[in-house]
Amino acid sequence: MVRILAIETSCDETAAAVVRDRAIESNVIASQVRAHQPFGGVVPEVASRAHLENINAVITTAISEAGCNWSAIDAIAVTCAPGLVGSLLIGVTAAKTLALVHQKPLLGIHHLEGHLYASYLADPTLEPPFLCLLVSGGHTSLIGVYGCGEYQLLGQTRDDAAGEAYDKVARLMGLGYPGGPVLDRWAQQGNPEAFDLPEGNIRLPEGKVHPYDSSFSGLKTAVARLVEELRQTHTELPVADLAASFQKAVAQALTKRAIAAAVDHGFKTLAIGGGVAANSGLRQHLTAAAEPLGLRLIFPPLRLCTDNAAMIGCAAVDHFQRGDRSPLDLTARSRLSLLEISALYGPTPLAVS
Ligand code: KG4
Ligand code: ZN
Repeated sequence: MVRILAIETSCDETAAAVVRDRAIESNVIASQVRAHQPFGGVVPEVASRAHLENINAVITTAISEAGCNWSAIDAIAVTCAPGLVGSLLIGVTAAKTLALVHQKPLLGIHHLEGHLYASYLADPTLEPPFLCLLVSGGHTSLIGVYGCGEYQLLGQTRDDAAGEAYDKVARLMGLGYPGGPVLDRWAQQGNPEAFDLPEGNIRLPEGKVHPYDSSFSGLKTAVARLVEELRQTHTELPVADLAASFQKAVAQALTKRAIAAAVDHGFKTLAIGGGVAANSGLRQHLTAAAEPLGLRLIFPPLRLCTDNAAMIGCAAVDHFQRGDRSPLDLTARSRLSLLEISALYGPTPLAVS
């Protein structure tokens, strides 16, 4: 039995959780959405300040809601990459301080590995190998999971992430921030066949198309052009039809690639992670495509799809059990490939173990 206190501050949610093995004992999230809304997107300086204001209360609440004390905590985990450096630093500094003060081992966790581990929380019986489709505001990747830290990057976006495309399209349609949930709601009332939008294929030499890589910037530009044209001819934008057509293009592109990767590599389970996993269109398309293949789908509940610290704690449990420890000079990194996470665990950690 391993109990972890986990901290997540990589973007605009200040979060802390206590996780015991694959069970959540507390999962506290202070959302900053309201602070960023007037700016139409996440403002890094606003995010760091809000993290600083919220972090102590969020950690204290996570521990008290779990009904435990410091002696019951085996290690402290924190998202240290990738993300906004000013935001990550608040969590990393808090975690390092707590590790030092309470003499606990420290574990730096990769944010995407956290999203991937949300599926283990959703289904504690899940075991590798499985395929993970990670679709968030910053990433769109297809990852083969063979064990803790054993990942194969099969496909990714060549430009915008799926969530980023949602946020940008919502902004250009004047729907505010964050764009994903708003567009998703509109899409459910519109006609997905109303407008024909590009799927964003990546062309390879010899006229072939990359089977797993995607592109969403062309789709975003196509919507921008369409919105411009419609504004000339319509007094009111057909928001629902635009949202439904856009949603269909994104869901189709992601589904096609995920299914192809699952079939080609013989995966029997597809786990979906990241904020866009909440998308109703993606859920429908994937469910329809997976059923005839007998492919098992894991959609974590909404509160585990978007940024949270429980998923970070769950990943940390496995790393802790493998003997991984991070040094107390762990730093925040804006970028780090999921394939390089071994760099987070020093052979001779400075932290007490
Ligand atoms: O995973 P997440 O909370 O943060 C990142 O690590 O990026 O994902 C946030 C992203 C945002 O781009 C948001 O617009 C998108 O997830 N999102 C959605 C939905 N809910 C959140 N996108 C489409 N449909 C949704 N229902
Ligand atoms: Zn995230």
